[in-house]
Amino acid sequence: METMKLAVVAETIPGENRVATVPDAVQRLIGAGWDVHIQSGSGVHAQFTDSMYEQAGATVSPDVESVLQGAVMVARVRPPSVSEAAMLPEGTSVVSFLQPAADRETIKVLMSRKVTAYSLDLLPRISRAQSMDALSSQATVAGYRAALAAATMLGKFFPMFMTAAGTVPPAKVLVMGAGVAGLQAIATAKRLGAQVRAYDVRAAAKEEVESLGATFINLGLETQEAAGGYAREQSEEFLARQRELIGKEIAVSDAVITTAAIPGRRAPLLVTKEMVEGMEPGAVVVDMAADSGGNCEVTEAGSDVLVGRVTVRGLSNPPSSMPTHASFLYARNIASFLGLLVKDGEFSPDFDDEIVSGTCVTRNGRIPNDALSAAVNGEG
Ligand SMILES: NC(=O)c1ccc[n+]([C@@H]2O[C@H](COP(=O)([O-])OP(=O)(O)OC[C@H]3O[C@@H](n4cnc5c(N)ncnc54)[C@H](O)[C@@H]3O)[C@@H](O)[C@H]2O)c1
Repeated sequence: METMKLAVVAETIPGENRVATVPDAVQRLIGAGWDVHIQSGSGVHAQFTDSMYEQAGATVSPDVESVLQGAVMVARVRPPSVSEAAMLPEGTSVVSFLQPAADRETIKVLMSRKVTAYSLDLLPRISRAQSMDALSSQATVAGYRAALAAATMLGKFFPMFMTAAGTVPPAKVLVMGAGVAGLQAIATAKRLGAQVRAYDVRAAAKEEVESLGATFINLGLETQEAAGGYAREQSEEFLARQRELIGKEIAVSDAVITTAAIPGRRAPLLVTKEMVEGMEPGAVVVDMAADSGGNCEVTEAGSDVLVGRVTVRGLSNPPSSMPTHASFLYARNIASFLGLLVKDGEFSPDFDDEIVSGTCVTRNGRIPNDALSAAVNGEG
């Protein structure tokens, strides 16, 4: 039987604190037949030391070259850079987040090295794949962090307080975009006692928002849904009407948390500079879509921008700011995905399985999916 070496490499993007496996997941991977090797120091920013990995049964390798040598599969969080892709052994496989349109140069190198690359950005959102759904697990972390950011930035309490000194009303929080991240932001703000309202363009969001005890704002606009339950890209005319109608809700909010995204596209513009200027002094906007262009006109990813006395925070890579549990969940997603590629202790991906074929970006020196191939070649 072939030994299935799994190599986990250290993340190299500045500010990326997550790691693709954690000691808990190492034990699961070994149980599934993987021989787990990890580059020394990979887990340090997520508070997992080399000795914790060793105790779980992994082999710690001193550097990236030695960890990659003889690997059947490489696991990472962020996509490899062009030079990292060039280091991958020919014919190996790699799993990570990887966006075909954004990571074109890396994909070309992966093809030239005949690497089979799987992207968790592309995982079909079917119930069988839920345990592998890294977009959802990381969005959960991001939504939680966004609500906490709003709570700590605000010079007001989130909950209502009835004290001997007087009664303090609850903060008014508006969450725009009620997908996985938005729902977690709503739940977190509700637990802290804020008065929460939310808006989304998908019809199903209303029930989900209400099930968390928040109020759904109905703007009376037509829903904007694409296949698979996602929002579709909206026309500029739709967004202009949305902004016109939501403006007064924003003006009365202490905190606005924006999470709106369209898969593979720039984030829609929901909050203009003028709307921010219309908010009360001390109010805050937390923009979770900062890395994909921002939902707010003035957002700068990774920075706070002051507009009058209102602060707009552009959260950059929010899951990385809570790396221990973000990595824990990601590692579970990876272990679950890798479980799918193993049959009877042998590495044998079944490309007739829609999860395997749906996530596969490159294989045998080409991009098997025509739509992805068009996206990588700039035709999508
Ligand atoms: N079946 C599964 O396994 C599974 C897993 C995860 C998510 N999902 C579903 O996928 C859908 C989206 O999930 P996501 O969190 O990845 O979405 P996302 O990150 O792509 O987008 C975030 C949210 O922004 C909303 N949005 C887009 N444009 C907007 C606008 N102009 N104004 C307000 N809101 C706007 C979207 O509708 C979405 O709810 C949801 O229906 C979710 O339940 C299904």
